[in-house]
Amino acid sequence: MAEAAMTVQPVDYDDIQGLVRFGYPRLKQACFLLLRVTHPEAARAWIAQAPVTSATKLESPPETALHIAFTSAGLRALEVAEDIIEGFSSEFIVGMSSDSSRARRLGDLGDSDPGCWQWGGSPAEMPHVLVMLYAMPGGLAEWGSKAMSQAEEGFEQLALLTTSDLDGVEPFGFADGISEPTIDWERERPARDVELSDYTNRSCLGEYLLGYPNEYGEYTDRPLLDGLRDPDAILARAEDAPERADLGRNGSYLVLRQLKQNVADFWRFIDEQAQGDPVRGKQLAEEMVGRTMEGEPLMGHPEEAIDGESDPRNTFTYRSDTKGLRCPIGAHIRRSNPRNADLPPGEPGFISWAARTLGFDAEGLANDLVSSTRFHRLLRRGREYGVPPHEETGLHFICLGANIARQFEFVQSAWLSGVRFAGLSNESDPLIGNHLPREDGTTTDTFSMPVASGPDRRVCGLRQFVTVQGGAYFFLPSRRALRYLSKVKVQP
Ligand code: HEM
Repeated sequence: MAEAAMTVQPVDYDDIQGLVRFGYPRLKQACFLLLRVTHPEAARAWIAQAPVTSATKLESPPETALHIAFTSAGLRALEVAEDIIEGFSSEFIVGMSSDSSRARRLGDLGDSDPGCWQWGGSPAEMPHVLVMLYAMPGGLAEWGSKAMSQAEEGFEQLALLTTSDLDGVEPFGFADGISEPTIDWERERPARDVELSDYTNRSCLGEYLLGYPNEYGEYTDRPLLDGLRDPDAILARAEDAPERADLGRNGSYLVLRQLKQNVADFWRFIDEQAQGDPVRGKQLAEEMVGRTMEGEPLMGHPEEAIDGESDPRNTFTYRSDTKGLRCPIGAHIRRSNPRNADLPPGEPGFISWAARTLGFDAEGLANDLVSSTRFHRLLRRGREYGVPPHEETGLHFICLGANIARQFEFVQSAWLSGVRFAGLSNESDPLIGNHLPREDGTTTDTFSMPVASGPDRRVCGLRQFVTVQGGAYFFLPSRRALRYLSKVKVQP
């Protein structure tokens, strides 16, 4: 549809669930409830009155926050019509653990096989609803039980995911939560497939929220309903199709994966490789991550942040380090965000477009198969759980995005698990890879650190330090969509 025909509406923060805009660093206590619907009517009644937090900035920030998201099985359990569910993306509909090919692509093999998961690995253990509760230290228990009162009339609890506050550090001991995309809330970035020759951290709103143009200048597919199905106009009308009610607008997809970290084995491996030398050990661990344990990028950074960044430690690219001499090409943060840009402006047309978006990069052959980062950003909202060394510990990995396949699945499969990432061989992500041989026998348990002259330094025999314990794809609706879904039965 031509842009002139669109009704561009201002961003309505009050309609958006606050998790899209805030990570709630002050709300250090959190827990995530995985629920199954037992009585749809009572479940809808609870959802209708739940105090869901909006993305509006308040003078005094909230002391608690509550968010709600649904799996496709959950929408079905709430009696949402099948043709509405069909409007969601196919990976959301079938789910994270739906088939062995997806499991293979995501690296969910061996101990991470969905058959071994504590939740989400089979239809009987599939959560319907995710309720996320956040509170100031000490405030969760009382407020949480009040917020959840009467929920038992409509739901049963499948699992309660607790979280821990490790003070900005993930369980292996590295500073976390440093790099996030800067969302273009003002919609100033031209919503068109412009050719960017420089990496920018600024990312179109439509990469994270449905109903807005994404980095291709297109509106991501989402359920658009006949206006007659929403006679009271509970839902916003679609910008690109004003006669349709937009069930997706201001909503997002949410990926949740429970990632258990074997901290003792990780540091044992490091110690073996460093032959007991703690300085060499720390250096190796930092090369595997791409940042020091304190959070400094191995690439270095300027004193001042640029490009709308709030943290100068996030102001860098790998452009001056094509060989990986300062930051190994296979380091976790380089794989998960190679910080590359499109080809410089060139010939228009399909070949140029395919080259820019599918993977042939202008920064040299070493970067082939690394497609432009701006189509594969993730908004991370995870929380740690357990306190090492006494408890089972890990990360409830959470990311938001408007397209699960192009964002989370691509990063997880092509970049983190990809054995041919950027010309490397026999490697996968040193931190989170499963390091099992591939079906064709290719090994994935090495990690190489190039040096200026001579052969790469290399560690072999990497073990699986992170195992998946559960996971699912959710839809995080707008507050209007939540109201609509809680009234589903009254639709014509
Ligand atoms: C237990 C598992 C994991 C651990 C311990 C871990 C650890 C880290 C650490 C220490 C950082 C650097 C801090 C920062 O830049 O914010 C980081 C960054 C990042 N991680 Fe992970 N991570 C894990 C899983 C994942 C997964 C599953 C994904 C994606 C599928 C992912 C994607 C990213 C991204 C996109 C960044 C930011 C990179 C950048 O923009 O420079 N991580 N992670």
